[in-house]
Amino acid sequence: LSEPLLAGTKVLITAGGTREPLDPVRFLGNRSSGRQGVALAQAARDAGATVTLIATHLEVPAPHGVQLVHASSALELREAVFTHAPGNDVLIMNAAVADFRPATIENSKIKKRDEHSAPVIELVRNPDILADIVAARKDEPALPEFIVGFAAETGDEQGTVLEYGQAKLERKGCEMLVVNEVGASLTFGQETNAIHVLFADGSAAVESSGSKLEVARVVIEQISNAI
Ligand code: C5P
Repeated sequence: LSEPLLAGTKVLITAGGTREPLDPVRFLGNRSSGRQGVALAQAARDAGATVTLIATHLEVPAPHGVQLVHASSALELREAVFTHAPGNDVLIMNAAVADFRPATIENSKIKKRDEHSAPVIELVRNPDILADIVAARKDEPALPEFIVGFAAETGDEQGTVLEYGQAKLERKGCEMLVVNEVGASLTFGQETNAIHVLFADGSAAVESSGSKLEVARVVIEQISNAI
């Protein structure tokens, strides 16, 4: 009997989509269902890893046999990632993190003041959690040695999905980037996924498509080969 691929490995995974509060009842959100992140947690668990899953908003149940942590907004997720990352070997940043949040959170529900007017909502940038934790490794040896980012990309006249993915991998400074091509009906909230796995060490890209669990198994296998 061979050892499970990730026996003795500690893996931290973020999943789902963040919600950025506007007032006590409203938020800005995104269409991430959390299916891919949950599948990654299952695949890592099945590969023998000790898994911590930081769940933002999921439309599917979290798997059994993983330690579950909750976070809602990007700022809460950042806090949870920095709290739980030390001591893990691998971090997989799969969550769809809002790039912007409302500049202020109103204490009471934003009201319709009259028949016709509507509020203008000012947004501010959220921190890039992935880039921040990669940068923090310089001073903190307990942070994961192997960090994986996800990127939803579309190709255009200026470049292919893979070219954009390669540029993002270099910009973020992580060891691996899983790129999926998105469009109106692709990936977000869907059952299946088509990905390219890119490596910072120059290894050749690996392609996979299938159910989110099949794709997750390929990502986990690639991680186990690389660490
Ligand atoms: O730059 P982009 O949003 O495409 O990068 C996606 C990757 O970066 C994902 O791994 C996501 O979890 C992470 N991310 C982050 N903090 C943000 C935005 C994205 O960690 N504010």
